[in-house]
Amino acid sequence: MAASAEKLIIFDTTLRDGEQSPGASMTKDEKIRIARQLERLKVDIIEAGFAASSQGDFEAIRAIAGIIKDSTVCSLSRANDRDIARAAEALAAAPRKRIHTFIATSALHMEKKLRMTPDQVHEQARLAVRFARQFTDDVEFSPEDGSRSDMDFLCRVIESVIKEGASTINFADTVGYGVPELYGQMIRSLRERIPNSDKAVWSVHCHNDLGMAVANSLAGVMIGGARQVECTINGLGERAGNTALEEIVMAVRTRRDHFNLDIGVDASQIVPTSKLVSQITGFAVQPNKSVVGANAFAHASGIHQDGILKARDTYEIMRAEDVGWTANKIVLGKLSGRNAFKQRLEELGIKLESESEVNAAFGRFKELADRKSDIFDEDIMALVSDEQQSHENEHYRYVSLSQHSETGERPAAEIVFSVDGKEVRCSGQGNGPVDAIVNAIESNAQSGCELLLFSVNAITTGTQSQGEVTMRLSKAGRIVNGVGADLDIVVASAKAYLSALNKLHSKTEKLNPQL
Ligand code: KIV
Ligand code: ZN
Repeated sequence: MAASAEKLIIFDTTLRDGEQSPGASMTKDEKIRIARQLERLKVDIIEAGFAASSQGDFEAIRAIAGIIKDSTVCSLSRANDRDIARAAEALAAAPRKRIHTFIATSALHMEKKLRMTPDQVHEQARLAVRFARQFTDDVEFSPEDGSRSDMDFLCRVIESVIKEGASTINFADTVGYGVPELYGQMIRSLRERIPNSDKAVWSVHCHNDLGMAVANSLAGVMIGGARQVECTINGLGERAGNTALEEIVMAVRTRRDHFNLDIGVDASQIVPTSKLVSQITGFAVQPNKSVVGANAFAHASGIHQDGILKARDTYEIMRAEDVGWTANKIVLGKLSGRNAFKQRLEELGIKLESESEVNAAFGRFKELADRKSDIFDEDIMALVSDEQQSHENEHYRYVSLSQHSETGERPAAEIVFSVDGKEVRCSGQGNGPVDAIVNAIESNAQSGCELLLFSVNAITTGTQSQGEVTMRLSKAGRIVNGVGADLDIVVASAKAYLSALNKLHSKTEKLNPQL
């Protein structure tokens, strides 16, 4: 019998580091939906946010802690009592909870950012872990900018925090500076030099600035002996992103001969999770992205197609169905009833809190089914997103629009939307119909924001598909994404724009842990 393999712990930080992508901020309901899907994906740990960073994050973590049963729920906190107490309070209801505390250890960060001496940082790290242990036995410590820190200093700090009870040491490559061999060797050397290193699980946390986050993480596992990988869905994250969860999971699964590690993740939930995160954040997945890109399993060249038809493994190292790719399936139609709709929601892992929410979503479904004969899972997910967006931060709400464009004429649009419940009707012209609708909205909203990105994606295939529009707006240093879906892409654009304005309007200002 083969020797049983060790486990590789999957720590998902989509809701924390992923959310630090400019524009990826999520509402509480959106975070809850993603957390539920992460639990279905069977990740070991869900880092649900950074409790002290904003009231919104605190409440989202608290709600997730009250809902998630199978995964450990974690909150980030800086290495101070206030942050840690806040994290503990948000996590109180979780059956399994972890406090993740961090402080920068590189000379550059200590001197220029923290303005602290190494001895002060050492002491603060030690005290933070000691304090966090009062709330839970599961405490993780990260030396921020670890890969650019002095090894002797790291040895002293890490030995102390393990003595204080840190059970996970997360070696952060905060700025994506690491290269695989060196990053892996640093972890190995730390584990060899620190006398109590075997009392903690070692973890990798890599950023993708040089495109090596996944390679660095795997080197940390193979060379360094790390047994936890911190990662995000679709590699979402600060700047160039974090280690992509789907790539780690499928690399370790597909090359089990090399890694010989077990992962608890249910790979068949990878694609649905990827689609959900992309839809909620408005960050489209590039078609050639490994595992979750639309072309990841598409074979275009004649030679490849011929090979695939003769034997799939000639050109395929993984099976699309194993990671959750399914052909677009018509799941519901005009005649489907409320029960069929509700059952499909359950199958998709979507839990609406109350019967009135199910009714509202069903109403939207009926409206859509009147206009579109075949309803796919992606349509259902989009309409639930729309419905949830309209619950939170609802300063502006789309009602209706009309628009006119004709060759040789300047497009014009009229829109009705409500502002704090009061309907307004505005008109505008523009270079195209979308420009006209945005001008119409702005004639009332006068937001003063800048449009950074406008993108349209077909949710499913065919010209009958709904268009999903993302609008990224920036104002006074804040960047937000709004997403809207409709059969009419001008309507989808108006919804996306209003949703982004709603996010800008909400006052929840967030602290970024790396600032
Ligand atoms: O990149 C980083 O250093 C982090 C820490 C807070 C772990 O995200
Ligand atoms: Zn990070």
